[in-house]
Amino acid sequence: MARVRTTSIAIEKAAGVLREGGLVALPTETVYGLGANAEDSAAVARIFQVKGRPPSHPLIVHIGGAEHLDAWVEDVPATARLLAEHFWPGPLTLVLRRSRRVPLETTGGLETVAVRVPDHPVALALLSAFGGGVAAPSANRFGSVSPTTADHVRAELGDGVDYVLDGGPCEVGVESTIVDATGETPTILRPGGVTREDLEAVLGRPLAVPETSPVRVPGQHPSHYAPRARVVLVEPEKVVAEAERAQELGHQVGVLLPAAFAGAPVKAHAVVPVPASSAAYARALYGFLRELDQRGCDLIVASLPAEEELGLAIANRLRRAAGPRPTD
Ligand code: TXA
Ligand code: MG
Repeated sequence: MARVRTTSIAIEKAAGVLREGGLVALPTETVYGLGANAEDSAAVARIFQVKGRPPSHPLIVHIGGAEHLDAWVEDVPATARLLAEHFWPGPLTLVLRRSRRVPLETTGGLETVAVRVPDHPVALALLSAFGGGVAAPSANRFGSVSPTTADHVRAELGDGVDYVLDGGPCEVGVESTIVDATGETPTILRPGGVTREDLEAVLGRPLAVPETSPVRVPGQHPSHYAPRARVVLVEPEKVVAEAERAQELGHQVGVLLPAAFAGAPVKAHAVVPVPASSAAYARALYGFLRELDQRGCDLIVASLPAEEELGLAIANRLRRAAGPRPTD
């Protein structure tokens, strides 16, 4: 089939770009990544430059399968192996002690490295054709909303990327769950596509709620995943009134209308009804934030979903989007 042939040519081309030290935007099941050869310090340095990201913020190394884990990390605790076996390929990133194969540029100077196996056929085909590890943060400018389509990447990074692999819209829509697995007691550093409930079921014990854990590494700042518009969070039953109040004050208000209030009339500039299922909401969230920016909103009124299953990751991203901006 023509489509398959085109795809395999595109993958060979992308693997060549990585070998030559270039940058490739690649689809994953979570969000699009901005990838470089994880062992090429100069290529990795370009990622930071294109994103406008401080070099102390560590990247995730994407590998083709759990069988490659030991090439990239050392001292893997049994719990980490259990999690890798269970959730890879999938939206789980494990932080482990780096092997010498991983340059400090990739880890932002840390002695640990974040590793994951993405669950996307195009990403896996690229990793297989390339043969090495691909260091990839989300393919957006530092601090802004992650891209969930190839068009988002092109619009945001343009010529900064040497090649864009288009794998369609991302299935999960929020980033991977990051687990510090260096010790026998894993902790969640960032909630994401693998839910706390899933992890607890496999580990057989409860995990700490990430919102209450201290900031441990660079890259976990309060303002992150933010659209241009300011984000205001209120209780679900106050969303309509708050939106109308802000609109009357002269704001161009965008509303993420909770599913419980679907169909309610709202006097605002743009209203996006939120899907009732957390999986559908996660898939659409970043697209909604981009859409409200594009429609000219300067203020977005939203509420936090129930913090269970994927709702935990959605709430985390909305809180960060609403966090103080560097210019505040
Ligand atoms: O779903 C995802 O994880 C996407 C796709 C492309 O795989 N990637 C992603 O990368 O979200 P990025 O760079 O936007 O976020 C990675 C975060 C960093 O901000 C940092 O907080 C954490 O991973 N991280 C990376 N290495 C770490 C380490 N050694 N220790 C602790 N946290 C680390
Ligand atoms: Mg990111």
